[in-house]
Amino acid sequence: MTDDTTTGPAVLDDPAEDPASAPADDPGDRTARAAAGADPRDLPPVRFWPALDLTAVDFDPVLAELMREGPVTRIRLPNGEGWAWLVTRHDDVRMVTNDTRFSRAAVMEQQVTRLAPHFIPVPGAVGFADPPDHTRLRRAVAPAFTARGVEAVRQRSAAALDALVDAMIAQGPPADLTERVLSPFPIAVICELMGVPAQDQERMHTWTQLILSSSHGAHLSEQAKDEMAAYFTDLVRERHDSTAEDVTSLLGAAVGRGEMTVEEAVGLAVLIQIGGEAVTNNSGQMFYLLLTRPELAERLRAEPELRPGAVDELLRYIPHRSAVGLSRIAMEDVVIRGAQIRAGEPVYVSYLAANRDPDVFPDPERIDLERSPNPHVSFGHGPHYCPGGILARMETQLMVDTVLDRLPGLRLAVPPEEVPWRRGALIRGPEALPVTW
Ligand code: HEM
Repeated sequence: MTDDTTTGPAVLDDPAEDPASAPADDPGDRTARAAAGADPRDLPPVRFWPALDLTAVDFDPVLAELMREGPVTRIRLPNGEGWAWLVTRHDDVRMVTNDTRFSRAAVMEQQVTRLAPHFIPVPGAVGFADPPDHTRLRRAVAPAFTARGVEAVRQRSAAALDALVDAMIAQGPPADLTERVLSPFPIAVICELMGVPAQDQERMHTWTQLILSSSHGAHLSEQAKDEMAAYFTDLVRERHDSTAEDVTSLLGAAVGRGEMTVEEAVGLAVLIQIGGEAVTNNSGQMFYLLLTRPELAERLRAEPELRPGAVDELLRYIPHRSAVGLSRIAMEDVVIRGAQIRAGEPVYVSYLAANRDPDVFPDPERIDLERSPNPHVSFGHGPHYCPGGILARMETQLMVDTVLDRLPGLRLAVPPEEVPWRRGALIRGPEALPVTW
């Protein structure tokens, strides 16, 4: 965090005055507003939020400045059009994300200002669906992601993790913890949960790496996505009358019962299969924290009973993503803390900001391994709450247990400032985590 206002967001001319950059809204409403003259609302300035290549676990200084400015501000991001509202307080974030007056499906119809350069919404994609469609898609796979469903893959996940750590130890230090453990482990776990047969897991690993890495070029990435989709199409079709509880069987059965189309099922399967990337990057930040603040790792080695709560505190603290994710569109006029949001206007929430709300988390900048209660929103809130939340916690706890206990002398193999960080990425994390022991 910094108080240096020069790193804060720049004020733009108010695009509310500029119809070309204003978000699309109901034409009738627009005419009425034009007749009424300039926007009569007392609007906060629009702040430009550039894409920053932040390193380590630094909190975004622009977001810090926006939080200081007020609970509801306005932002413009590097891509898309116009401006959007930004909501940062914990209770407001929970309200917006759990209120049907804010729609995800409506985002498909606008070029909302955004961080990501490309906006290729896939019709039927779970992130852009509203209830009841969204509920229908999520319900089909829900059993695999419950505590019981996740528990069913814990033993095999632990064995897979041990095998990866065995191999790393056998080869000897130094090693890249990301390459050897943090990247392959979530892929192995998700293959279990998806019901991908063991002999196909290597292929799945290769496709996932190609889809997620930009270094091989867009063409190879697209091709890998098509191949993965073709693979899941076959698997889902084969499993149309399955009663098993892995994700592809659940999807196959839902297609068999006519509850979703094959395309919807395959779209969801691909999204879930590559969702483990979030765990790789998030745990990369987590191990960076544990390796650069050895007092935290020592405490967790000495008091293992603290680990479940500590993982949640680290999840709260970690700046998981750059800027903000997907917006929502207000479907009617809504007032939040005095800010008059009009129907048709886009609204972003920041889960990262909500996790630092001092009214909910006393001394929010401090990592308190015993923080309780800890109602963080790192996995989101409301209907779009991350389906992988319980799974990600299980994976992260296994990695913390295994790595801390099996490698008592683990330390960074390079000075902290030489750890390479992902650049231009939506999800933040180390490119590699060179370690020795
Ligand atoms: C530490 C790891 C993870 C973090 C911090 C995380 C965080 C999030 C967040 C904040 C959201 C967005 C909520 C919103 O749109 O408002 C989300 C959505 C999602 N996540 Fe995760 N996630 C993680 C791991 C995973 C895993 C392992 C999977 C797959 C198994 C997964 C699959 C998804 C999917 C499919 C969505 C879209 C849900 C929807 O729109 O209904 N995530 N996640």
